[in-house]
Amino acid sequence: MLRIGPVQLASKMLLAPIAGHTDLAFRILCREQGGVGIAYTDLLNSHAILRETRRTLDLAKTNEFDRPCGMQLYGNSEDPLPEAARWAVDRGAQVVDINMGCPVDKVAKKNGGSLLLRDCGSTTLLAARIVQAVERHSGGRVPVTAKMRLGWDPDHMVAPILARQLADVGIAAVTVHGRYTVQYFSGKADWNAIRQVVEAVPQIPIIGNGDVSEPEHAAALIATTGCAGVMVARGAMRTPWIFRRADELLRTGQVGPEPTVAEKLRVVLRHLELSAEHEGETRTVIRMRQHIAWYGKSMGHIKPLKEAIRTSTSVAEMRAALLAAEDEYARLEGPLVPRARRSEALPGREDLAETDSDARF
Ligand SMILES: Cc1cc2nc3c(=O)[nH]c(=O)nc-3n(C[C@H](O)[C@H](O)[C@H](O)COP(=O)(O)O)c2cc1C
Repeated sequence: MLRIGPVQLASKMLLAPIAGHTDLAFRILCREQGGVGIAYTDLLNSHAILRETRRTLDLAKTNEFDRPCGMQLYGNSEDPLPEAARWAVDRGAQVVDINMGCPVDKVAKKNGGSLLLRDCGSTTLLAARIVQAVERHSGGRVPVTAKMRLGWDPDHMVAPILARQLADVGIAAVTVHGRYTVQYFSGKADWNAIRQVVEAVPQIPIIGNGDVSEPEHAAALIATTGCAGVMVARGAMRTPWIFRRADELLRTGQVGPEPTVAEKLRVVLRHLELSAEHEGETRTVIRMRQHIAWYGKSMGHIKPLKEAIRTSTSVAEMRAALLAAEDEYARLEGPLVPRARRSEALPGREDLAETDSDARF
């Protein structure tokens, strides 16, 4: 089974950091569905952490149902990342992750993210400082990991060399998203390039990431790359039960049936309740209007429900719309009604524009 430093994971499937989506409610939702080895927070700015801004405190919120929890930080060599990492340990992070892959201008032009791929030497020194700070502060309990893209552009494929240098200074695992910064989310993730990283760095687990939207893709990514674990982002926003199904496939060679539409609606309803509990009414209403577009992609024709959610102004209205739809599907669904079974391509940039996070990622 997958181990990140001293942290033993119960599954090889990891929930990615997804800015604007992986709040506490969503992380718990995915965990409740089963098969999540670890889940990460959104990326957190090191300065905002030390100022303890309200937004950062919200994003870093965790509890006993959110274990193990990875907190992802971003910053550059001049930023107070070691101090922020110590703060994350005090706030309950079992793993501290450094973002080396965010392509968004606001982050990558000055604050870190993919910028760290441009100077491997100083990035490695920065990582060494963070590892030392966290090691001392946590007594070796909390490992530090990194999440990177392949490089800034295809002429600068740095992931194998950078990952090796990071392993040498004590980084416990590296996640590789098989795209370059300049690609954003276009094209296909290059799984063969991920394999090169796995081969270059045998001493620590390499987690593969990119374009896993069905359980079978997770098995194929491991078969192609030899990676130790699989991280999923967009697939989880559409199908939070993907971890359970992929974990089952990886453990047993068999994958259980996809949930029915009525079952999926129950999951959306659970998301609504968790979000209302942990994120509050206003944020929940805004978020669920976005999330329903993602969930809808695996549910066939649910346009009226999507419309009802998009025009709802309260959690109560959303709950009523979901309950009505769930009843309807539970009544209709059966051998006569074919269940929606999709394996369409993951959403591209245009679809991402449906979310407010597009502005950030
Ligand atoms: C809306 C959105 C927000 C994201 N936010 C983060 C983030 O905060 N930190 C990070 O390391 N990656 C972030 N990513 C990248 C994902 O973690 C992941 O590397 C990428 O989407 C590829 O995986 P996928 O094909 O499973 O989606 C984000 C991606 C999307 C679509």
